[in-house]
Amino acid sequence: MRFVPFELERWQSTWENRVRYNLSESGVHPLSIHELLDLAGASPAPLLDVRLGYSQSNGTDLLRGRIAALYDGASPEQILVTTGSAEANFVVCWRLVEPGDKVAVMLPNYLQTWGLAQNFGAEVRGFTLRAEAQWEPGPEEVRGAIAPGTKLVVVTNPHNPTGHVLSKEMRQAIVSRAAEVGAWLLADEVYQGAERDGTTTPSFWGSYERVIVVNGLSKAYGLPGLRIGWVVAPPGFSPRVREQVLARTRGILRSNYPVIEQWLKRFGDTFSWHPPQAGAICLVRYRQAISALDLVEKMRAEHSVLLVPGDHFGLPNHIRFGFGDELHHFREALAETERGLKRVFAD
Ligand SMILES: Cc1ncc(COP(=O)(O)O)c(C=O)c1O
Repeated sequence: MRFVPFELERWQSTWENRVRYNLSESGVHPLSIHELLDLAGASPAPLLDVRLGYSQSNGTDLLRGRIAALYDGASPEQILVTTGSAEANFVVCWRLVEPGDKVAVMLPNYLQTWGLAQNFGAEVRGFTLRAEAQWEPGPEEVRGAIAPGTKLVVVTNPHNPTGHVLSKEMRQAIVSRAAEVGAWLLADEVYQGAERDGTTTPSFWGSYERVIVVNGLSKAYGLPGLRIGWVVAPPGFSPRVREQVLARTRGILRSNYPVIEQWLKRFGDTFSWHPPQAGAICLVRYRQAISALDLVEKMRAEHSVLLVPGDHFGLPNHIRFGFGDELHHFREALAETERGLKRVFAD
């Protein structure tokens, strides 16, 4: 069996801390501990007394209780705290997928579960989000991909890399098809709460008894470094602070998106894109013949700018920009990117 690597993760973890301008990140500029405590109105002093012993490996009761409260009818026993949502996706696939199983995954996508399911021996089918339909998948293709006998359906909503939020009709269509064939539905909702217009994407939770929701603090909450800290999550993770943290994220999205939009427009008809509804990510198609893999490698090596090639999502001739960084650094990054792209496209 050929091992399917997770190219996007290889690319990012190899380079993200070695470039000057990291435009490969899909979340917003992270909060500092100081800023987080300020939002919570909490003192840093108790943190200094935290004993660095083993914590509860499935998440503390308090944290699981707080998370459970976000999902109608869920109790803390239904929550498992993991090291980031990437581990949550891993655990779900590990538990459910067996050799010969049929799995259906949205494409393009953050291809973690796509590769994992194949590496666990599944036969994986994709259903395609269509640019010409504002990134909605076709209902017939959804039905075809979620064939009878399918064990697991994986959706990412809001979506990476397009930033698309599925319509209510499409959500229902996916749920009812999953229910018809008796499949588990894994909904990766890590961008929920990072909507530019402030309308929280409804969770798949509660729409069907075999729904499993994955989420985390890395994107909408701007706290990716807490992956090593879930079990020591600050007591300030209360509904009030949650709203403030989400408001900060949306503020960053709203101030930075117009900057990248204006910047993209300056290239005339080079780029085409659909404005992302959620997430600090903008997926852009370009007209030039150069492959996205060559393009991002040149940008990294010659300009210290890290972009993500569409190929890592199953989408050639696209690049994904992360626009969640601090505005002044982001503007500098775009200026450097512009210098680089002008050279690359002129070659
Ligand atoms: C759709 C999706 N799921 C999961 C993750 C993993 O996030 P983390 O492990 O930082 O929570 C990412 C990160 O980019 C993502 O885009």
